[in-house]
Amino acid sequence: MFYKLSLLFISVLVLGSCADNSKMPTASEPVLFAEHIAPIIYSNCSKCHNQEGAAPFSLIHYEDIAPKAKLIAYVTENRIMPPWPADPTYTHFANETYLSEEQINLIKRWADEGCLPGDTSKLVQPEWLSKKGPTGEPDLIVHMPKPIHVPGNNTDLFMVLKIPFELPKDTIIRAIEFVPGNKRLVHHVNTHIIRFDPNKKRSLKNGKYWVNQDQTNSTQIHKELGLLNDDGSYALMTPSVSNYLPGAQFSFYPDEIGGFRIGKMNAFYLNDMHYGPSSVDEVDSSYYKIYYGTKEPKRPVSEFQIGTLGLAPVVPALVVQPNEVKKFHIQFTVPTDISVVNIVPHMHLIGKKYLAYAIKPSGDTIRIIRINDWDFRWQYFYMPKTMLKIPRGSTIYVEGEFDNRASNPNNPFSPPRLIAERAGSMKTTDEMFQLIITYVPYQKGDELISLE
Ligand code: HEC
Repeated sequence: MFYKLSLLFISVLVLGSCADNSKMPTASEPVLFAEHIAPIIYSNCSKCHNQEGAAPFSLIHYEDIAPKAKLIAYVTENRIMPPWPADPTYTHFANETYLSEEQINLIKRWADEGCLPGDTSKLVQPEWLSKKGPTGEPDLIVHMPKPIHVPGNNTDLFMVLKIPFELPKDTIIRAIEFVPGNKRLVHHVNTHIIRFDPNKKRSLKNGKYWVNQDQTNSTQIHKELGLLNDDGSYALMTPSVSNYLPGAQFSFYPDEIGGFRIGKMNAFYLNDMHYGPSSVDEVDSSYYKIYYGTKEPKRPVSEFQIGTLGLAPVVPALVVQPNEVKKFHIQFTVPTDISVVNIVPHMHLIGKKYLAYAIKPSGDTIRIIRINDWDFRWQYFYMPKTMLKIPRGSTIYVEGEFDNRASNPNNPFSPPRLIAERAGSMKTTDEMFQLIITYVPYQKGDELISLE
């Protein structure tokens, strides 16, 4: 998924926390929207179901929600929504969205009882609803210079893009959020910032706006996009400032963590913009929201990945024969004490099961994540509830199962064909098996720092 290995700065994350502030009516009391249902929806649904979120329609007001009550009862009862692939009996996360049985029953009762509104004047909407999205007003919005055309030829489209932007002065950046224009087609994107020294670069305007990702010569790509300095040298880069995956949502790290400084002359460098296949011609106008910071960034985050394209290989080589169900593993020993702030499990279409844990030198196990029914459509950046210490010398184990049978509804081929990891290919019909970890070097007391 990401081309750059090892220590990368990253600053984009997922769903905010989901404090459960819903009240329960007794069996004889009517279930009311304002009192009982709205808090559940705000905490678990509206973060995606708003104008800018990943979902195709809003679930915020009574008028949005009541007409869909039966469907909402159905998708919650069957645990289709909210999507939460991680097994909550294994580990919990700060950004968990998972309904209790009581909440599910309450929604069902509300729908059955005719969707009573209750006293909507008492409704307390979360603050973010009035601030244009869960993350509030950004300090700056940067649009694509022009829309990208995605041809309706049923194939994945991979491109490398440049989106220049200028700032009035040196600025501390707290976080950068990618907002997909065409939510159905944008599959993933990993963004870096190229920081130009105005003494070395006259204009950001030269060069192409995008090139196909087929070519692998990075210098050539930089040259064509006009991303090199005027003398042909590379400009400075802050890597992985924003990552977007299907279902991924955005939130901030605690104050001291993450964040970085940039100068006046910059360009977003989208080194792997991936649009999924479409049967009709479509366009995409995605954009970035930039949030400035006030505090000098003290603890920049770093990132490493294991598995495909990572620091440790997939064993055995990731090849799954037609009609085969096969297990693979990854193993990596952590060289220093780290505090994990964010993890991303990654597989493609025929991935089925995913388990990651670490064994400390003492023999104790640190649970990381278990996904019992991998769903390619929902890939999250999972944030532990508190910073997760993995001590030096611990070995991280990742176990994955892939199902290449015809009976797997997500199998892209019928009849099944050999599916493998192909060097550097991120096509959804090839496979990947990765664990991506974002961390800061451990400091005493990190275990107590909440990420909620
Ligand atoms: C992580 C983002 C996310 C969250 C959280 C989320 N949804 Fe969705 N929802 C989506 C997306 C995206 C779709 C579009 C269909 C798809 O891709 O499966 C969707 C589709 C739906 C649909 C339409 C299903 C259909 O078959 O037509 C309903 C109803 C729905 N969501 C209700 C909810 C409810 C209720 C909650 C909270 C309890 C919720 N969603 C939470 C992203 C989300």
